[in-house]
Amino acid sequence: MAQSSKRSKWVSLCVLLFAYFASTIIAEDGLVANGDFETPPSNGFPSMTPAEGIATGIPSWKTNGTVELVAAGQKQGGMILIIPEGRHAVRLGNDAEISQDLKVEKGFTYSVTFSAARTCAQLESLNVSVPPASQTIDLQTLYNVQGWDPYAWSFEAEGDDVSLVFRNLGMEDDPTCGPIIDDIAIKKLFTPDRPKDNAVINGDLEEGPWMFRNTSLGVLLPTNLDEEISSLPGWNVESNRAVRYIDSDHFTVPQGKRAIELLSGKEGIISQMVETAPNKQYTLTFSLGQAGDKCKQPLAVMAFAGDQAQNIHYTPDSNSTFQTANLNFTSKADRTRIAFYSIYYNTRTDDMSSLCGPVVDDVRVWFSGSCKIGFGRLGLVLGFAFWVFVFFMG
Ligand SMILES: *[C@@H]1O[C@H](CO)[C@@H](O)[C@H](O)[C@H]1NC(C)=O
Ligand SMILES: *[C@@H]1O[C@H](CO)[C@@H](O)[C@H](O)[C@H]1NC(C)=O
Ligand SMILES: *[C@@H]1O[C@H](CO)[C@@H](O)[C@H](O)[C@H]1NC(C)=O
Ligand SMILES: *[C@@H]1O[C@H](CO)[C@@H](O)[C@H](O)[C@H]1NC(C)=O
Ligand SMILES: *[C@@H]1O[C@H](CO)[C@@H](O)[C@H](O)[C@H]1NC(C)=O
Repeated sequence: MAQSSKRSKWVSLCVLLFAYFASTIIAEDGLVANGDFETPPSNGFPSMTPAEGIATGIPSWKTNGTVELVAAGQKQGGMILIIPEGRHAVRLGNDAEISQDLKVEKGFTYSVTFSAARTCAQLESLNVSVPPASQTIDLQTLYNVQGWDPYAWSFEAEGDDVSLVFRNLGMEDDPTCGPIIDDIAIKKLFTPDRPKDNAVINGDLEEGPWMFRNTSLGVLLPTNLDEEISSLPGWNVESNRAVRYIDSDHFTVPQGKRAIELLSGKEGIISQMVETAPNKQYTLTFSLGQAGDKCKQPLAVMAFAGDQAQNIHYTPDSNSTFQTANLNFTSKADRTRIAFYSIYYNTRTDDMSSLCGPVVDDVRVWFSGSCKIGFGRLGLVLGFAFWVFVFFMG
């Protein structure tokens, strides 16, 4: 009897393990096949002189239009091309695209991380898609003095076999202008459960897009209005400009391994609709910090909860890199919007141009009316004791 139950436990453990490994075979988190463009084409990497550089075949990718493998040190019009990472990347010419077929799990949300740099001063934009989903990523704003930035975009898999497509929407007079892309990775996202004492989903911001261990620039999260399909589960980026998802390996983070750095003042807003009971007292608390990236102070955020708004300046205790802030509000409906943006438009003190700003982490919304209920119960108990007293005395 005991033996058979032991055996069935083993069987179910094996089934679980098998299911686990079977599911990881589908789409592993991390770099997609040749996502860093460092695998040499069959005839070797093209020579460094432009025009001869047209790729004859980029391993693991399909191309359409002028797609060029570019190398570190390669020059164009006297300027050295920016290669985000490693020795090689691809440049997409006018209306050109690269694509790769991926195996994913239908119904799940995935986030794609990629690095992009623009080559000319013109307005450059990239269409990232997993048809039918797509988003145009505007590369005009330089968030970083390095000239490139990692971005994340998310999609919900409508089937098990999908195609990830990057297309240059530009139509420049100079066909050698066009965005450079590198380091393409994918991550299957999960939505963390809402904790019992906190109405905010993913309030600790620990679940988010893939981040490369050796990329020190964080990941930009561009506009995303669909809270169901977000690279930062639970959260929306409401603004035209992006916010930066940062990691504790390269930045100062108040809690855990990840947080959000707000950029571009009012132009970078994150928000969430949290579940509330109408007409109840709630408190929003969060950690407000600095990212340790030499950001020019002062730092401050505007925090919103329902009809309350408050600006909070970063004034930590002597040795701390963050402080806890709170905002009391009364819910008006069964959903309440909470949101944050940076009050100032900050840049780094060392290069005077990379965008930076205050850090938000560990966001909680909790029912703070419980204090009154406590008094209510205490009142009941006292009242009962009084009647008992009266009864026995009488
Ligand atoms: C390449 O793109 C053009 C439009 O830009 C399209 O008409 C053509 O079908 C594409 N070719 C392939 C092989 O996808
Ligand atoms: C981006 O590409 C997708 C399919 O690849 C297409 O459906 C969508 O219309 C494109 N968006 C723009 C703005 O061109
Ligand atoms: C990270 O660094 C390792 C070794 O230093 C290198 O092989 C790899 O290509 C790098 N990857 C990224 C995405 O930076
Ligand atoms: C701040 O750090 C210094 C040196 O590490 C220490 O001497 C001091 O007591 C700390 N102050 C507080 C308030 O923790
Ligand atoms: C919020 O309310 C609590 C008591 O419920 C109080 O201790 C706290 O100071 C209030 N916070 C603000 C910012 O008013």
